[in-house]
Order: sequence, then C-alpha cells, then structure tokens
Amino acid sequence: MRGIRREAKRQEQMIRRLTVLTMVCAGVALPDAPGAHRIENIFRPLSTPAREISDVSILAVIICAVIFTVVAGLLTYAIIRYRRRPGDNDAEPPQVYGSNQIEAAWTVIPLLIVFVLIMVSARVIASVQNAKPPANALHATVIGHQWWWEFRYPSLGITTADELHVPLSGGAQPEPTFLKLESADVAHSFWVPRLNGKTDVIPNRANEMWIDPHEAGDFIGNCAEYCGTQHANMLIHVIVQPKPEFDKWVAEQRLPAVDNPAVAADKQAFLSVSCVNCHTVRGTSAAGVFGPDLTHLMSRKNLASGVLTNTPENLRAWIKDPQAIKPGCLMPAMHLTDTELDSVVAYLRTLK
Ligand code: CUA
Repeated sequence: MRGIRREAKRQEQMIRRLTVLTMVCAGVALPDAPGAHRIENIFRPLSTPAREISDVSILAVIICAVIFTVVAGLLTYAIIRYRRRPGDNDAEPPQVYGSNQIEAAWTVIPLLIVFVLIMVSARVIASVQNAKPPANALHATVIGHQWWWEFRYPSLGITTADELHVPLSGGAQPEPTFLKLESADVAHSFWVPRLNGKTDVIPNRANEMWIDPHEAGDFIGNCAEYCGTQHANMLIHVIVQPKPEFDKWVAEQRLPAVDNPAVAADKQAFLSVSCVNCHTVRGTSAAGVFGPDLTHLMSRKNLASGVLTNTPENLRAWIKDPQAIKPGCLMPAMHLTDTELDSVVAYLRTLK
C-alpha cells in the first residue's frame, strides 16, 4: 500500500516538473515564487523591435511546421504503404533512377523557401538596426558589470542601477529610448524579451539598441551571456512610466542625496567605513565608482540586481554578508559591528 502511494507521489512530482518545464520552454510567465525569477513571455511583444522579431519568428515556425508535416506525412505514408507483408519474397524491388521533374522540384522549392526567409529577416534586421533616433528620443547608456547593471542618462545627469526607467512610447507621440551598451569587465548580453531581442554587451565596444514600450509596467530581463558564477542573478528591470510620472522620477533622481539631520551621526558612520571607496552618494564625500550609485537607493525596489527586495532587513543582511547571498560577488563583507551596521542601514534608508 505504502509502495503504491510512494509511486503515485513520484509520478505526481514528475508530472508537475514536466508541466513547469513545458511552460518554461513555451515562454509562459509563471507566478512569482520565492527565490525564482519571473520569466517573461517572448510571444507577447510590447515594443516595435520585439514585435517585428516575433512576427518573423512566427513566420519561420509556420514554414518549418508545414515542411515538418509534409515530410513526416510522406514518411509515415511510405512506411505503412510499403511495409513488409507476409508472403513477400526477399527480392530487391525495381530501382528507379532520375526523375528530372522531382529533382527540379526539391531543389527549387527549398531555394524559394530559404530566399523568402532571408528577404523577410533582412528587412526586419535593417528596420530594427538602422532606425534613426527621432529628436525627442531618450538616450541612455547601459553598462554591464559582474553582476549588476549600471544605467546612465548623460543628458539628464542621472546614474542609477538595475532599474532602467523609460517613458511610455505609444500613441501619437512616440518617444523611443536608444541605448548604448558597454561593459566594465566581461561579455554580458542585455535581454528584455518583451521589448527587444538580445544585444551583446562587449568590453571595449559600444553596441546599440532601442526600445519603444507601448505599455507601462515593470518588464524583467536577464543577462543572456554567461559571465561568471552569478550570471543568473543579473536581472534587469525596465520600468516603463507615462511621461508625467517619468518626468517626476527624473526630477527626483537629479537632486543630490537627502541630507536628513536626524541621521547625521549615522551618515558620519557610513562615510567613515570603506563603502565610500566603491559607492557614490552625490552631495557627500562618497564618490566610489566600482559599485552602484547609492544616491537614491531607496527609490529602487530591488537590491543586488534583483536578488532581494529592498527592505530594511534585506538591506542589513546584504551589507552584513553579501557573500552569503550572492557568492562570488565583488562586494566584500566589511565585518562591521552591529552598531556600525545599524548606522549604515539607518543612513541608507534615508536616501529616497
Ligand atoms: Cu552578465 Cu551573464
């Protein structure tokens, strides 16, 4: 009895795993689970380049499905129709060589199919790659780091991390965002499936891509090029906001860090530890450039490139021992005392 129950449980587990795997392969978004990253649906594009790429892929899949059906159908027919039957002698059947019509057909038809696919793909590649930024386009620079993303808006004087804010670009007034992609260390790949295809982020080279999101929301992307042990924990959030909301975010980000007199002692504690060698807090003496800019840390929903939600407990745990949360990351545990840790967290929590 117990054996049967165990077997039933094992089968149930297997079915559940297969279902998840099938959904993942099909690009179906799964509900958020703790410790799991949401997967974006590549079949629901929300930006012009993503839509054009998706249309070409669907056309290619349809053509391949038709070819598969014809070939597999003919194969199945031949296997059944000409199977060995009782009473067959083992003599070789008559051999037929050379039919000019058939050979011409199976040379010309694939050539035509490949030609159609090349032309359609080339058209989309050209329209995505050669798009010229309109005068009102927003320009931002994306810098891949092991293992987080830096976002700079040179014309706005803003530097932030992990969450790229862009304006909604729909309707009569499109306002696309053009991205320049650079790397601070190794090769990464910037991929937000619903907004555009993957673009490699290569050291000593600037690649470009653009997005024009037609819907507001928080779009998740991943680094799509293996870049070290924490490659999978290098999430991208693209936060698409209606123009007035985006302008408000810009105005807030341009301000120097909040200087709250209530945490003056905590601020001193923060400025006296080595955090300042890697992090910038604009308006203070902290001017490091190796780690994320912390000037408006509290405006971000996540920490450590999407690994943790930005809560006081998570922030404390992260500063206390980053290696326990993201092993191999470049932020070391500073071995702060509990009092120092409390002060640093208290100060950082004011950086709205
Ligand atoms: Cu960065 Cu993978």
